[in-house]
Parts: sequence; structure tokens; C-alpha cells
Amino acid sequence: MILDGRAVAGKIKAEVAQRAAELSKKGVQPKLAVVVAGEDPASAVYVRHKVQACTEVGIASEVHRFGGEVTTETLMAAVRGLNTKAEVHGVLVQLPLPPQVDEEAVLDTIEPSKDVDGFHAFHVGRLWQGRPKLVPCTPAGVMRLLTAYGIEVRGREAVVVGRSRIVGRPMAGLLVNAGATVTIAHSQTRDLGAVTRRAELLVVAVGKPGLIDASMVREEAVVVDVGINRLPDGRLAGDVDFATVAPRVRAITPVPGGVGPMTVAMLLVNTLEAAQTQLGGGQ
Ligand code: GUN
Repeated sequence: MILDGRAVAGKIKAEVAQRAAELSKKGVQPKLAVVVAGEDPASAVYVRHKVQACTEVGIASEVHRFGGEVTTETLMAAVRGLNTKAEVHGVLVQLPLPPQVDEEAVLDTIEPSKDVDGFHAFHVGRLWQGRPKLVPCTPAGVMRLLTAYGIEVRGREAVVVGRSRIVGRPMAGLLVNAGATVTIAHSQTRDLGAVTRRAELLVVAVGKPGLIDASMVREEAVVVDVGINRLPDGRLAGDVDFATVAPRVRAITPVPGGVGPMTVAMLLVNTLEAAQTQLGGGQ
């Protein structure tokens, strides 16, 4: 079974569009502000997708661009300005930031109620307390995709490969909350294959094409590939060797068309929920 993120994301976007229209009728159009610094080519593509998706569902957006030489202070000042703008409900700082910038300091500046990436310590804490508010978009999208296909998580042996702030860590938290037994593997794991072969549910978020081959996957596993890697010939590939792994498993996400569209859809959901919470109209 192929887990079609594009199709599921399409349904979520239709729901968001309806809810955004209801808010707009009450005189408040939800709005996302995106801060981008430097010239990372992948970031340029992601930001374009995010802005396009906002337009599709009736969420307003604005992009604040800074050069590659920008300072931590300048970005923090920009975020503080957005925190105080009532018409902006979501603030997203696109990562990675240029190397001279203190990424943590900039992210910590985002007002938690507007932090639609869910990276702030407040949201990380709430997630691990088992009472999440705004959840990072990619892992939230993975959970929605599994639910959409009726894939049970409770009681399952889950392995997450990768321990990043954006995916691996929050993914593990969501899976624990959903009742899975969770192992986090990462670059220091000694025998990666021995760990991944235990997984009934395997989520891979590393950024190395072909990292996971058929020998590393348990038969009948559900495999979620979060990697998006640009190959030298220009094609996109995940972290999982799709051609050899797909025939062995119960379900797998393609790249592209799997997790990527779900990430964007969940950003729209988070922006809408942030707007509703700020208006006192919901959780
Ligand atoms: N860079 C890659 N993925 C993400 C994401 O989900 N959020 C942000 N802000 N930057 C990213």
C-alpha cells in the first residue's frame, strides 16, 4: 500500500479552507508571517510551497526576507515586531538560518501562541507532558497520514531514525503519546539495521538517500520516509530505497508525494488553530 500524502493533504486543505472562510466572514482572516534569511535553495522551494498553500485555502501570508549576512539581533527584532502585530496569527522562521545566527535565540523569541512550527520550549514541554498544543508540522502530518489509512499505532514497536528538533524528537513524543513502544536511533547508533529490523512502524528522518535498504526493514512493516534529498541528476529521493523496500512492507510513503504535502497541510492547520486560539474561539 502506498500512503498518498498528496490526496490526504488535499482533504485537510479543503477542511482548512472552510474554517478559514468562516473566520474571514467574522472579519478575521488568518495570517501567517514567514521569516527567511539567506539563499538556501531548498528553503526557497519550501517557502514558495507554504505561501502557495496559504493562498489556496484563504489564509493571508507575508514573507520577510533577509540577506545571508543578517545578525541574530536583527532577526530577533523582526520576530518581536511580528509577535506584537495582532493581524499576524502565525510566525514561522524558516530553517536553516545562516551560520552566524544563533538559531535557538531567534526561535525562543517567537511568542508561543504564534509558534506554528511548535519548536518553542513551551510546545516541546507540552508535547512531552502528553498535552500538546501546537505540534511540529512534519510529525503531526505523519500521524494524520497514519490515521487516514487506519494504521494502528497503539502497542506497536516503533523506531524513529533521526533526533532533530524538526522531526525525530517530536515524532517520538507523538508516537509515545499514541501508545507505541518507541526507540530513537541516530548517527551514534552502533548497529542501525539491528534496531530498524525490530520496527513494525519505521519513521526515517535523516537526510541520506538510500540509508535504509531492504535488509534493514522488517517484513510487513509500515515505513514512513521523511527524507527529501536532491540527487546529482536533479531527481528527489527519500532516505529509504523505495524500489527494494516497497515489495517487503505493508505500507510505505513515496518521495515526493508522501510526507512533504502533509507538512504543508499541517502548517495551515496550525495557523488556523493559532488564529482561533488568539481570538478566544477555540483550542
Ligand atoms: N526547514 C525544514 N523543515 C522546516 C520546518 O518544518 N519548519 C521550518 N521553520 N524550517 C524548516
